[in-house]
Amino acid sequence: MKLNIAVLAGDGIGPEVTEQAIKVLKAIALEFDHSFLFKSAPVGAIAIDEQNDPLPDDTLALCKSSDAILFGAIGHPKYDNDPSAKIRPEQGLLKLRKELGLYTNIRPVKAYDTLLEKSPLKRHIIKGTDISIYRELTGGIYFGEKQISEDGNTASDLCEYSRMEIERIAHLAFKAAQSRSKKVTLVDKANVLETSRLWRKVVTELATEYPDVELDFLFVDNAAMQMILNPKQFDVILTENLFGDVISDEASVIGGSIGLLASASVGDKYSMFEPIHGSYPQATGKGIANPIASILSAAMLLEHFDLFDEAELIKEAVEKSLKLEITTPDLNATYDNITTSKVGDFIADFISNPTDTNINFNNIHLGQSTII
Ligand code: IPM
Ligand code: MG
Repeated sequence: MKLNIAVLAGDGIGPEVTEQAIKVLKAIALEFDHSFLFKSAPVGAIAIDEQNDPLPDDTLALCKSSDAILFGAIGHPKYDNDPSAKIRPEQGLLKLRKELGLYTNIRPVKAYDTLLEKSPLKRHIIKGTDISIYRELTGGIYFGEKQISEDGNTASDLCEYSRMEIERIAHLAFKAAQSRSKKVTLVDKANVLETSRLWRKVVTELATEYPDVELDFLFVDNAAMQMILNPKQFDVILTENLFGDVISDEASVIGGSIGLLASASVGDKYSMFEPIHGSYPQATGKGIANPIASILSAAMLLEHFDLFDEAELIKEAVEKSLKLEITTPDLNATYDNITTSKVGDFIADFISNPTDTNINFNNIHLGQSTII
């Protein structure tokens, strides 16, 4: 298969983790005889520095003319600490999602058996967790009208949803549940918010088209608690933009590190694949950022194009790296000399030699070699 992939590595650790995902995709292309062409473009703080625009026209045009987008991270402390900044890096990402119509953000959350001890949560609570969060991505409070009074003392953000916006993501969530454990949990705040009541009404109506899927409801405050108390009760979580942002970061604790969580943002025409973590400015350039979320996002990209064997091989390689503790320090690994790019090397090498079990641990942990 031939794919043109736009690479928007962005800010902070974005470039270093995305580089590993590209390395892995190149190994896949070689093994399976595909042709992946990568073209990079600026986005976020770096694009503001260069062009005073977090999403330059050329970047958007590249995304629109590509088959898929690989996204890194966005954000910079100089904007986080300046609430008066009019141009902000995050606007680039939000505009990209809106312009490309990426209304569904899929965030899989899994407890890897080899990492159960790394989570601050108890082993018996998280073992076996397998959740797919369907977060609405182009509506709600993120995109409603924003106002600040002239004296600067009163502000508002409008939360608005239409039936159409709810229906299109709900269909995808129900379909996903059909091929999983057949349960959708709608997370909302229907005891307070009008928009949430609309979500409940529309999703309940639509559920009749999927009689094999059980539909359950949880208020978001309770859902936040249930996520920690009993995450195994969840299969597919369907929720609006802001609630999905919050509970997916919370859910990442189950996996042991936010550095493991990948995501796919899809619409009717375009698709983008990005780790859920941010730009982690403190780690930039230190080689300590975990590239696995970005690498697993690349696997989701392949799945999107029905390249399931290829995606499976990436996941197998990731599991192997976790098992052998060829991981970055966020996972409290025994070895502290495994850098971002060493993890990428190992995973790419495994893809080229998946059946080679002759692993030289000493060399791996000295960082000299991966598979011999
Ligand atoms: C995410 C991020 C973004 C969001 C930020 C960077 C705008 O937190 O993708 O979860 O809030 O959607
Ligand atoms: Mg977030």
